Amino acid sequence: AGIFTYDPGFTSTASCESKITYIDGDEGILLHRGYPIEQLAEHGDFLETCYLLLYGELPTKAQKQDFDYRVTHHTMVHEQMTRFFTGFRRDAHPMAVMCGVVGAMSAFYHDSTDISDPHQRMVASLRMIAKMPTIAAMAYKYHVGQPFVYPKNELGYAANFLHMCFAVPCEEYKVNPVLARAMERIFILHADHEQNASTSTVRLAGSSGANPFACIAAGIACLWGPAHGGANEAALNMLDEIGSVDRIPEFIDRAKDKNDPFRLMGFGHRVYKNYDPRAKIMEKTCHEVLSELGIKDDPQLDIAMELERIALTDEYFIEKKLYPNIDFYSGITLKALGFPTTMFTVLFAVARTVGWIAQWKEMIEDPKQKIGRPRQLYTGAEQRDYVPIAKR
Ligand code: CMC
Repeated sequence: AGIFTYDPGFTSTASCESKITYIDGDEGILLHRGYPIEQLAEHGDFLETCYLLLYGELPTKAQKQDFDYRVTHHTMVHEQMTRFFTGFRRDAHPMAVMCGVVGAMSAFYHDSTDISDPHQRMVASLRMIAKMPTIAAMAYKYHVGQPFVYPKNELGYAANFLHMCFAVPCEEYKVNPVLARAMERIFILHADHEQNASTSTVRLAGSSGANPFACIAAGIACLWGPAHGGANEAALNMLDEIGSVDRIPEFIDRAKDKNDPFRLMGFGHRVYKNYDPRAKIMEKTCHEVLSELGIKDDPQLDIAMELERIALTDEYFIEKKLYPNIDFYSGITLKALGFPTTMFTVLFAVARTVGWIAQWKEMIEDPKQKIGRPRQLYTGAEQRDYVPIAKR
């Protein structure tokens, strides 16, 4: 027996020390290795952010070239992997496919199981960052019933991903650089977010010394839920359900009603009690994408903007400090880029992979690292004697 602090949802328990990401939820500040997310999203590219998260510093030109080269040369997946995809029902949710396929990578990369070897850890990190877009694009192609498209390594990270998703053998496909830049920014915005549920899951799974690909699969499973990464899909479905601007007050009332389980998806955050800094950049990116595509009138965007306006002036949301989070505008943007809602959380997983792996690596390399093993407050029956079934 022992006395333990009970902290449901770990609202006030630090599970680790970390040097990777800093969030000031009251001020709406997000820093990666000290650099503001606004600056990384505006000036950096995704692989530069990956390098920063993994190694702690922005790369020099030579380091960046070398890193890009090494990641790019791991973009292919084993041809046998295609059989994993085809084993799924064709209407399987792409996140279900991702959980299975990424977990299966642990069988293809059994060498990564030796996590005590820094070289193996590094190779596993590069493989995961490189292969996740390929796997995600394959999940998409399988979903829409089109042939898989191989990576094109002369393209940038996001452009290559768009190419693998949207190129078809029967016609010429050229990646629009404005859309590729938007995709890159979306990846940067999702790259890491300290000890969120999926990252904590990856750390907990990894704390037992398990194969890192299997740990990332655990993270993907956790990300799937609508309270976490699944919120981008749920937010767009909600905008669809609202349907028109005049129905917003009805849904606002529902969100405030304690007897109604409905919540405004894409609103609220455990840590941010102010505007999520990523949501602001996402909103800007959303407008850029719609303007590039010549979409002048998007009913979902109109509903989203009006919903935000009303919620931000409503006493309930002000009092509870509920602001739009990153998932509020990401759905509209991803839809405009051509993705079905079922792919939204998959894209989140592609981007968050670097955060998961950087946090996993930090944990494995921490001399204070122990297996994660929370305690509990037992509230069940006291000891009692077994009753034979005939006497029950
Ligand atoms: N709509 C209406 N009420 C809300 C909402 C919402 N979206 N979010 C929180 N509340 C209320 C909640 O009912 C509670 O009220 P009370 O104190 O009267 O019981 C209060 O605000 C605090 O909420 P909580 O659920 O105790 O807070 P939490 O820190 O446990 O949950 C959250 C955070 C993000 C799960 C929650 O705000 C939520 O469910 N939001 C909608 C889903 C969503 O957008 N998730 C994405 C999060 S950001 C990206 C990511 O992590 O993937």
